[in-house]
Amino acid sequence: MPTIEQSAHSALPLASIRSQFPSLSQTVNGHPAVFLDGPGGTQVPQRVIDAIVDYLRRNNANTGGAYATSRQTDAMIAEARTAMADFLHCSVDEVIFGANMTSLTFAMSRAIGRELKPGDEIVVTRLDHDANVSPWITMAEDRGVRVRWAEIHDEDCTLDMADLASKINRNTRLVAVGYASNAVGTINPVQEIVALAHAAGALAYIDAVHYAPHGLIDVAAIDCDFLVCSTYKFFGPHMGVLYGKREHLKRFRPYKVRPNTNAIPNCWESGTLNHECIAGTTACVDYLADLGRHMIGVCAGSRRPHAERGWSDVEGRFSESGNPEISRRAAIEAAYAAIREHERALIEHAISGLKKIPALKIYGITDPALWDRRCGTFAVRIENHTPLELATKLGERGLFTWDGNYYALNLTEHLDVEKTGGFLRIGLVHYNTGEEVDRLLHALQEIAENG
Ligand SMILES: Cc1ncc(COP(=O)(O)O)c(C=O)c1O
Repeated sequence: MPTIEQSAHSALPLASIRSQFPSLSQTVNGHPAVFLDGPGGTQVPQRVIDAIVDYLRRNNANTGGAYATSRQTDAMIAEARTAMADFLHCSVDEVIFGANMTSLTFAMSRAIGRELKPGDEIVVTRLDHDANVSPWITMAEDRGVRVRWAEIHDEDCTLDMADLASKINRNTRLVAVGYASNAVGTINPVQEIVALAHAAGALAYIDAVHYAPHGLIDVAAIDCDFLVCSTYKFFGPHMGVLYGKREHLKRFRPYKVRPNTNAIPNCWESGTLNHECIAGTTACVDYLADLGRHMIGVCAGSRRPHAERGWSDVEGRFSESGNPEISRRAAIEAAYAAIREHERALIEHAISGLKKIPALKIYGITDPALWDRRCGTFAVRIENHTPLELATKLGERGLFTWDGNYYALNLTEHLDVEKTGGFLRIGLVHYNTGEEVDRLLHALQEIAENG
């Protein structure tokens, strides 16, 4: 089981990783804080904080001005677009920055809706966060478009692919689907879904918000038309990023003010962007890339102890690992391979422990054969305890979880848990450790037994 020093399974350098996230060292009521709230927003490494502060301190300006700080702001945004293009595997002019995923999706749904008419259909799913449902439903109401719902297998909260396929036909114009569920952790076969949409001549719009901290995103391989994510869910600041295929960004017409350019990608960006967060976004992508470079270094070299390999514990960076020859994209791929391996060990540990807690029910995949199809996000309930009671008691012990529906409202209603407080959600990301999972399991056991 991964310990704080090093993961036995994945060699993920947990001590160094954790030392880069200042918030992880906090305590609550004398207990070390355990951040199991990643699905609501992950913690950030120091370099992200530094990038935000540095931008505000030295370069704070609006774009397009004929003076130094404005030019530096333009350059900084261009740099962040390149970083996100590496992260998503697309071209820089296909990257759009915005306030968050929800606002970007409302904007894009309105633009796409301009071209739809009565008789057209769209498909949404029962599993999705409402941010990939309501924007499409309201657009459909405005345009007289029919909405069709893809259902789930209730027993493990996976998408019913046969049902989804049956809802796509020659009238379908768009399929909106999540890459991973922020409630129950299911990872959907998005490549297959995109192929189904394309075979019918429909667009595929992927919500990758929950998937982004857990798995590599490759829009070129998925071949989706649009994909949206939020940097605050993958170790960056609070903002959203949308990928759109160049042909679509050029063809659809954004709602925009007249003085703004008609050129992509900027024509899709309304008003002044959150420059300091954009600066932080580059730092967050570089954090992942440096983790990947380190992992490549570990695989290529020996597994000598950290100190021998020249760890910089003061700075907390992966100082010995930075082989600049390795492209940022290749480094990001390596980071996610290691993250996935580490998280898989945590998933195994958490599920086998959760199954032993009396009267606890896990909603979602529990079959070890299907663990590749889930991430470490668990929705649970314990008989005779509301999710809010559980989250409060865990919170008093320094364990940060979430309760409710987390906007996956169609799912909690469908599974009939909405009226009784939804689920308790436990979210694991790569900075979490085996010991933290142990502490959670121990606390849940105690609460289940003693109230
Ligand atoms: C799966 C998923 N999609 C969309 C969103 C909305 O993202 P944002 O807060 O960036 O609008 C969230 C936020 O929790 C989410 O988890």
